[in-house]
Amino acid sequence: MVEPDQPSTARMIDFWLGGHHHFPVDVEAARAFEGAYGPCAPVFRALRAFLGRAVRAVAERGVDGFLVFGAGVPTMGNVHEAAPEATVLYTDVDPVTIRLGQRILAGSDRAGYGYGDATDIGTIDPAQLHRFVPGWGRRPVGVVFLGLAAFLDDDTLARTLDELYTAAAPGSCLAIDFDTEELAGHPEALAMMGPAFRMRSPEAFGPLLGRWTPTDDGIVPVTRWRPEGPPEQVPDAFHGAVAVRGDD
Ligand SMILES: C[S@@+](CC[C@H](N)C(=O)[O-])C[C@H]1O[C@@H](n2cnc3c(N)ncnc32)[C@H](O)[C@@H]1O
Repeated sequence: MVEPDQPSTARMIDFWLGGHHHFPVDVEAARAFEGAYGPCAPVFRALRAFLGRAVRAVAERGVDGFLVFGAGVPTMGNVHEAAPEATVLYTDVDPVTIRLGQRILAGSDRAGYGYGDATDIGTIDPAQLHRFVPGWGRRPVGVVFLGLAAFLDDDTLARTLDELYTAAAPGSCLAIDFDTEELAGHPEALAMMGPAFRMRSPEAFGPLLGRWTPTDDGIVPVTRWRPEGPPEQVPDAFHGAVAVRGDD
């Protein structure tokens, strides 16, 4: 594969998770970010563990098809590994990450990877959508929206989640997170995230979910969302929720 000249947050996360699908430019950016913030591996391990618990909880409701936005690198406990019986369509907008994902999943008949701009569901290839998320719009599915809200302004995020609500069938579930104000205490690291990066309080984030209703677990630090043991002792950099589409 041709080496990218720009780092990607998704591939930096792969580096922090101990994966093998990143490039020197990603490692350099990851190390620079850690210099400004502190160790990231435990924080992103905790976020990936939340993904696993949330996806398993959705699968336990009988959902067997997942649509993943801003998917990043599809390894290290990502959706098809957390729900091995399900079919999964991973989507992203970054061409290098998409090619990487397609190479990783080349041997899979249950998981695929394609282009998809979360803010415009019409950008997803309908053939891929129907192959990997069969019954989209007619049967409950899991929508995974992790690591993405931070890059969308409030209006775009609220509109996007509302459009997804309308498009998904009743009973569908949304797994979502957002960045807390943790980086406010680390201005150099915050500057590295770029001008589009948004931090939010739980009070500000809740209304953006619109018609999606969080489960009784609420919107909480990801380490405290149905922990399977003592919650990891990491900074509360991310809050998360699983929210359900009702019948309206
Ligand atoms: C911080 S990474 C998160 C990756 C992965 N979800 C995870 O948690 O490891 C954010 C990802 O969102 C992608 N992205 C940014 N804007 C997007 C958009 N409008 N639609 C879909 N993906 C987007 C980026 O290319 C990047 O891969």
